[in-house]
Amino acid sequence: MRAYHLSGVADSPLELFELATPDPGPGEVSVRVQATSLNYRDLMISRRGRQGIVPLSDGAGEVLAVGPGVSRVQVGDLVAGAFFSHWPSGRISAAVHDSALGGAVDGMLAEVVVLPEHGVIAAPRGWTAAQTATLPCAALTAWNALVEGAPVRAGQTVLLLGTGGVSVFGLQFAKMMGARTIITSSSDEKLARMRALGADAVINYATHENWAEVVLESTGGVGADLVLEVGGAGTLAQSMACTRHGGQIALIGILAGASGQVNPGQLVGRSVDLRGIYVGSLEMFAEMNAAIDLHGLEPLIDEVFPFEQAAAAYRHLASQTHVGKVVVSV
Ligand SMILES: NC(=O)c1ccc[n+]([C@@H]2O[C@H](COP(=O)([O-])OP(=O)(O)OC[C@H]3O[C@@H](n4cnc5c(N)ncnc54)[C@H](OP(=O)(O)O)[C@@H]3O)[C@@H](O)[C@H]2O)c1
Repeated sequence: MRAYHLSGVADSPLELFELATPDPGPGEVSVRVQATSLNYRDLMISRRGRQGIVPLSDGAGEVLAVGPGVSRVQVGDLVAGAFFSHWPSGRISAAVHDSALGGAVDGMLAEVVVLPEHGVIAAPRGWTAAQTATLPCAALTAWNALVEGAPVRAGQTVLLLGTGGVSVFGLQFAKMMGARTIITSSSDEKLARMRALGADAVINYATHENWAEVVLESTGGVGADLVLEVGGAGTLAQSMACTRHGGQIALIGILAGASGQVNPGQLVGRSVDLRGIYVGSLEMFAEMNAAIDLHGLEPLIDEVFPFEQAAAAYRHLASQTHVGKVVVSV
């Protein structure tokens, strides 16, 4: 079977290898991967010069074989790998980090992978492998942000930043929950697509540098109930300024900078909860899939690249011309 490894070379981060097909051991399953998807994290890992690991946290395919003692999963099931193989439920712990696919351990950009039985989950009903591969990181992170803090209620306002994978799923889930959604983008074309997807208000953050003011105007001066903060240091001050008193910010990403000056007084003054999010557990994944089944949600896939062109998929994600998810078929 073929698998990519990270090369550690910035301009050409992927190397293709032919390897022996792995067999599942006790409590494990092997999966014939049919599709994977990329996240900003995968760019960060390759840019740091990481070498010798199979990249990508996200992938889905059919169960090829099951090891002794496996009872929950059967050969032929369409499953996704969980971002953390060892976070079945409950609160996150430091140990969970050691099982992050495509970071701590080998990931999904391979024709066959072996995962623990509790590290895979059935696909939503009727979904293809490509659709299912969009879920493990971006979708589950958005779900965690919306549900696991003070859960979003119908009629509340959720603010999404940019039109990447997390934000688009955040928009779709927030609409599903009956919330009002505001989304920002650097592109009017992308904002038109977000309108079509159900966004109630849109803001071009490139032409409205002080976008927080527009959010405040759009909410009658009150602010958003919840912000899915994917920008980090470069956007946090404005997110704090346009979150309502007693609202929440789910701190997710660092698209606009990993470090910078933050004025915590804004949080205190507005009694805003700031909650760090790191993807989610298998239990959250199951709850998210149940909601997807019930509401017939479909992921927004920007483009599907063939396995042999995985490097082009990396470049496409880095170009930030995408909307939603970038997929590699296997
Ligand atoms: N904590 C976690 O568990 C977790 C999980 C998933 C992702 N993340 C993090 O969340 C962030 C988003 O990840 P992703 O995979 O969804 O990324 P992505 O798909 O690569 O998102 C890229 C998009 O983000 C938007 N963007 C870039 N700079 C921006 C800015 N200054 N303000 C607002 N939007 C901006 C752009 O949208 P427009 O072109 O529309 O402007 C861009 O196309 C990353 O930092 C990632 O590391 C964290």
